Amino acid sequence: MRVLVVGNGGREHTLVWKLKQSKKVQEIYCAPGNGGIEELARCVPIQPTDVEGIVQFAKNEKIDLTVIGPEAPLLAGLADRLADEGLKVFGPKKQAAQIEGSKRFAKELMKKYNIPTAAFRAFTEPAEAKAYVREQGAPIVVKADGLAAGKGVVVARTVAEAEAAITEAMENRIFGDAGNQVVIEECLTGQEISLMAFVDGNTMKPMVISQDHKPVFDGDQGPNTGGMGAYSPVPQIPQTVVDEAIHSILIPMVEAFKQENIEYKGVLYAGLMITSTGPKVIEFNARFGDPETQVVLPRLKTDLVDVLMAVIEGKLAEQEIEWDEQSAVCVVMASGGYPGSYKTGHVITGLPKDTESQMIFHAGTKKTDGQVITAGGRVLGVTALGKDIHTAREAAYQLVEQISFSDVHFRKDIAKKALL
Ligand code: AMP
Ligand code: GLY
Repeated sequence: MRVLVVGNGGREHTLVWKLKQSKKVQEIYCAPGNGGIEELARCVPIQPTDVEGIVQFAKNEKIDLTVIGPEAPLLAGLADRLADEGLKVFGPKKQAAQIEGSKRFAKELMKKYNIPTAAFRAFTEPAEAKAYVREQGAPIVVKADGLAAGKGVVVARTVAEAEAAITEAMENRIFGDAGNQVVIEECLTGQEISLMAFVDGNTMKPMVISQDHKPVFDGDQGPNTGGMGAYSPVPQIPQTVVDEAIHSILIPMVEAFKQENIEYKGVLYAGLMITSTGPKVIEFNARFGDPETQVVLPRLKTDLVDVLMAVIEGKLAEQEIEWDEQSAVCVVMASGGYPGSYKTGHVITGLPKDTESQMIFHAGTKKTDGQVITAGGRVLGVTALGKDIHTAREAAYQLVEQISFSDVHFRKDIAKKALL
């Protein structure tokens, strides 16, 4: 098979790495890829949202399977266009991807189908949003409606902070059109988990759970990022709670899509808060999580091509999916300053070789004159497997210690919540 992976982050490096293990894959391309992906795949300089560019490439190169990593091309209709051309694609079409593209759409669907989530109201007028915040009091959560690379959410501890977030999104338009509407939500407390599932339109099969670390600093301080590290499994969350989430959230969501006549094929990612009254949805994504994928796919024992093809062909019910008992921990090494402004172009040294139990997934890197240099906010996802979280965590941090670049920043408490 000839496979094309779309994207350039740690998630896409992990997808390429996993797909490459399949005997069914002869050739693998990545658009546009990064400094680590180019070791495994042929990178082609086409941007993920260049829909026609990717469609033309897939046609010309007779690609048998295109796997879409990020949300932007899903929302730009890349899956729709590839399917129109009779090409096989993994990832939901534009309409289904609204579950991630519009928080309002997601919230209204959850409300209609009684799927547990934080109480909310959506607003198009900043004055009304602010009046609502004053009436509700703090803490309260302000979310830009559209895509904002995981940065459009403010968990406001005071009313003033919430009002400022509304001003930023709706009046100062720091997220552009994504801030045309805001969703104001009840603030939930508890531990967060990421529960991803493969969905073929009818059947849903959950993956193993993981936990992300969104804030930039230790102790969950500072602004939210795309994710500073992850681990899987999450031993402090009992399986009964996961089963409850599957039954109260994932299964009803797949049913909701069917009722609404929206075909959902791909990964459905539920970001959940485990509250004292059970799991509640924080957000849905229409794709693999990043960095979660970097700890979940290394635990997948089944050939990923078989699973993706079963989703595309609507045969997921017949597809076994097996998981490794080992634990995985991923520590993100980022550019100092991220998620704000940061410098790129620093040389990365000391990169260890991958083995069966350690993988350095690249995100913002590129290769120039034989050197690997930083090229983004999140630079590397340093991942290790071990018999338990403690062992995997020690191994991941040992790898981190070997790697260096100027201005590096990483959290030192990834997976600590599993050890308390
Ligand atoms: P989102 O982009 O919607 O996943 O939100 C980013 C982060 O903000 C989440 O991972 C949570 O840590 C936090 N968050 C979002 N919504 C809520 C909420 N209703 N209550 C508490 N924290 C939230
Ligand atoms: N790590 C969170 C996300 O992928 O949205």
